[in-house]
Amino acid sequence: MPVRREIPPRSIDAAAINERRVDPHYTRILTRLLAAHALAEKLTALGYQRALETIDNPALIPTIEKNLAEERKHAHLIYRALEEIGMNQQAADRSMIMVLKAPSFDAPSYFAGHASGELDLLMASISLDTTGLIMIGVNYNDSSYAPHAAAAEIILEEEADHEIFASKQLGEAVEKFGTEAVNEAFRKWIPRAVNFFGPPGTGFTYDCLRYGLKTRDNEDLAEIFTTMLSRRCEQLGLDFPELTPAYPHALA
Ligand SMILES: [Fe+2]
Ligand SMILES: [Fe+2]
Repeated sequence: MPVRREIPPRSIDAAAINERRVDPHYTRILTRLLAAHALAEKLTALGYQRALETIDNPALIPTIEKNLAEERKHAHLIYRALEEIGMNQQAADRSMIMVLKAPSFDAPSYFAGHASGELDLLMASISLDTTGLIMIGVNYNDSSYAPHAAAAEIILEEEADHEIFASKQLGEAVEKFGTEAVNEAFRKWIPRAVNFFGPPGTGFTYDCLRYGLKTRDNEDLAEIFTTMLSRRCEQLGLDFPELTPAYPHALA
């Protein structure tokens, strides 16, 4: 059953939070959501930084550098929004220690700490930029928290660019590395890309929907992603891997 939204888009600002004019539970849910968003942007930036160190194809360097600068800016925007409501970066990251170990953070963590080479870069870009585009575009653009909606607008424009890069690269990767290598990379990355949307039907998401901090459940977003990507795979003659139905998804 769809959850009824109680708070309209862009209707709450930092002053309302700081002057305690909103339900304290709203503030708790909002800070948790922002802390997770900020950390995902920061890990993505670290991943692009790592890509600069592990990739030597000069044709890719300018885009990696551009994406790195933009992901840093995204992280900064969201940490600044947290700062405005009294939570600094260290406290925000500390609040995410458990979340960081969850399957939903496997994609950004792997990109930041283990990815290497062009195929990993491409898969990370598909797993983080394409998913980010969906999450931010669908969910945060109409956030009841005005500063998050405003940040989402800025981030969206740049994520759209990253997404174009990823889809162009996918076609080129097939030519350069062959179908089988790209299929293998998909088998490795798609489960964590889909898990990045998070578990379906949680109490946290219920509160986000009710408060107008999100508009769709994680499961719906994951479905938009798999539909989009499996169509692209079909066009390129790639196999979109089959996944187990329940979160956390694995190869079927
Ligand atoms: Fe980003
Ligand atoms: Fe991005």
